[in-house]
Amino acid sequence: MVTGGAGYVGSVIGRYLLDTGHEVTVLDDLSTGHADAVPSGARFVQADIRAAGATLASGIDAVVHCAAKSLVAESVAKPELYWDNNVGGSLALLEAMRAHDVRRIVFSSTAATYGEPTSVPIVEADPPAPTNPYGASKLAVDHILTSYAAAHLFAAVSLRYFNVAGALLPGEPGAGTSGQTLGERHTVETHLIPIALQVAAGQRDSLQVYGTDYPTPDGTCIRDYIHVLDLADAHARALDWTAGQAGRHLICNLGSGAGSSVREVLTTSREVTGRDLKVLETGHRPGDPAVLIASNERAGTELGWTPSRDLTAMVRDAWRFQQSIGELAGPASR
Ligand code: UFG
Repeated sequence: MVTGGAGYVGSVIGRYLLDTGHEVTVLDDLSTGHADAVPSGARFVQADIRAAGATLASGIDAVVHCAAKSLVAESVAKPELYWDNNVGGSLALLEAMRAHDVRRIVFSSTAATYGEPTSVPIVEADPPAPTNPYGASKLAVDHILTSYAAAHLFAAVSLRYFNVAGALLPGEPGAGTSGQTLGERHTVETHLIPIALQVAAGQRDSLQVYGTDYPTPDGTCIRDYIHVLDLADAHARALDWTAGQAGRHLICNLGSGAGSSVREVLTTSREVTGRDLKVLETGHRPGDPAVLIASNERAGTELGWTPSRDLTAMVRDAWRFQQSIGELAGPASR
């Protein structure tokens, strides 16, 4: 069962699991997901994660838990939504799993659990110190999973995503034969690559670069971007890992191990699209660390995972996805 399987990351994971021979049930309340993103061939249940019991009773043997609220700024303004949904909802899901003896789970955690890093690359043993309720809510679930593994013999993996980008496009390696196109389509878009591509597509006039005076070589923030298909591959491996690991909770970063600055992302976006991007250099966005880069060593050792797609592939695939939905999307919401 993939919760949040009608969202960006969850739909690609569901698609990838189907294409690699799993049976998939998607549980999604469609609060932010899209019905047409549910992977074809999956069973679809439109429900809240707190109402997963009946679905769990229908032959589910493991859960990939992606459903969550995931906007950092919203979490600062409305923390109650994040504690209630991300923590309360996850706890209810775990209790339903326990009641139905489904004890394997792969959880969408985040780099935001670390907060401002003490050193880079970030390793999983670094102290978590989230700087916003979104990161804190995900860290709380990581802690819950540690205790459920110990007390209730769950086998759990928390995957701490760094900056996910790209799309699943028919014909690309790893995209399967479904013909489905899946990518990032948020009603409120805050992420750099989709915003840059909306500017390239003429759906926005310009984009803001949030700060050019960071202590980095070109003054802009550095992030570790990872292709959503590489991310899906990590989930499939994590799911395999949970078989036979009752009582263990594994936490793994998912990143490339290298960083790209905002300016480098914009250069790649110009190269891929062949279009100029109007840029306004503005002040810092509150809460943005200067550099976030993952060590992905543990994911390599424990899951045998290595990412294979670079920033150009991410931007190219996101651009092709953006063009495929461009006419439907209309003017971009901010
Ligand atoms: N940025 C801009 N202009 C924009 C959007 C972003 O300059 O219009 C910059 C940001 O300041 C940041 C970089 O581009 O330096 C990447 O920003 P994103 O919003 O794309 O991604 P974040 O690094 O802020 O967020 C990601 C995940 C979050 C997670 C966070 C952990 O998307 O879910 O990493 O730090 F919480």
